[in-house]
Amino acid sequence: LKPRAARPRAARRAVVVAQAGGGGGGYKVAILGAAGGVGQTLSLLAKMSPLVSALSLYDISSVDGVAADLSDCNTLAQVAGFTGKDELAGSLAGADVVVIPAGVPRKPGMTRDDLFSVNAGIVKELAEAVADHAPGALVHVITNPVNSTVPIAAEVLKRKGAYDPRKLFGVTTLDVVRANTFVAARKGLPLADVDVPVVGGHAADTILPLLSKARPKAAFTDEEVEELTARIQNAGTKVVEAKAGAGSATLSMAYAAARFLEASLRGLDGDEAVYECAYVQSQLVPELPFFASRVKLGRDGVEEEVGSELRGLSGYEARALEALKPKLKASIDKGVAYVQQQQ
Ligand code: NAD
Ligand code: LMR
Repeated sequence: LKPRAARPRAARRAVVVAQAGGGGGGYKVAILGAAGGVGQTLSLLAKMSPLVSALSLYDISSVDGVAADLSDCNTLAQVAGFTGKDELAGSLAGADVVVIPAGVPRKPGMTRDDLFSVNAGIVKELAEAVADHAPGALVHVITNPVNSTVPIAAEVLKRKGAYDPRKLFGVTTLDVVRANTFVAARKGLPLADVDVPVVGGHAADTILPLLSKARPKAAFTDEEVEELTARIQNAGTKVVEAKAGAGSATLSMAYAAARFLEASLRGLDGDEAVYECAYVQSQLVPELPFFASRVKLGRDGVEEEVGSELRGLSGYEARALEALKPKLKASIDKGVAYVQQQQ
């Protein structure tokens, strides 16, 4: 008789939790750029999700060590590493969600748009591979400048006949995470209760936290609104400066990306009432074909843009929204033009 291998308790618990939720999970997630600062931590957090049964880690740098290391965690997901362009197709086969944190991060003194020259090509190449090898997957773009890389991915997918606007997301969850953290601290509110919608885009003052729509309802003075808005808009730059040349936010980004991944998987799994802010193809602001706002996530990605948070804005927010429009539009146009200029 063969000895029966004991199933670790945590793994059993993961299976039970997965079976308890909606359709039961069992999703395959591919992370492109998995050897990087965001990618490695996100891979760990994805490995901890009871909804993930298979985790593909891809990078142009070797991911063998990361995959071997993570595989030892006694959680449900089976981990496989894929290194180099020849293995990109294999990493994408059968993926339900593809998360893209591949690309260079900022150094002090740079804007996110300064990353365009390198990261545009990376996102284009990866989006082409998604179209070819995982055309039905949800795609979460983390790579900056998000305001432009999402339109790039959309154009590439369109060219390949694989574009479903419900399935393409720019991950702006870190702006919400920061807004919730800073507002809870400033107003002395319990962190778990605070929810601040953040709309617009993901760069400088295209990031627009709607403090008038924060839950629980709180009163902010004009000074508090200005101070908190600036703090949320500049939080990424503050991390870049603190890291002093060693990159940008990785841990908080991975946390935020894992929250957005979990929400997307719950949507796929049939959970009702899954809402997150994300940068998606949008009909809310006529001049802006892409816009971040609160969306309902379902079995096919975006079920609806909620839009209600854009009604009844404060005077400050309405002015800030007007001011961000031309900046965000220019970033969107830059991304679209980049793809259209290529063969
Ligand atoms: P990093 O340099 O630590 O890691 C990037 C990884 O991408 C590296 O492992 C690199 O080998 C890999 N890579 C490069 N080209 C690739 C390609 N063609 N295919 C696959 N992998 C490739 O950088 P990081 O700190 O992890 O940041 C990654 C990106 O995420 C940056 O563009 C950064 O600006 C962005 N970011 C976005 C947010 C957000 O809120 N959306 C937050 C933080 C970081
Ligand atoms: C962030 O907001 O932390 C990211 O967009 C990374 C950056 O360059 O600031």
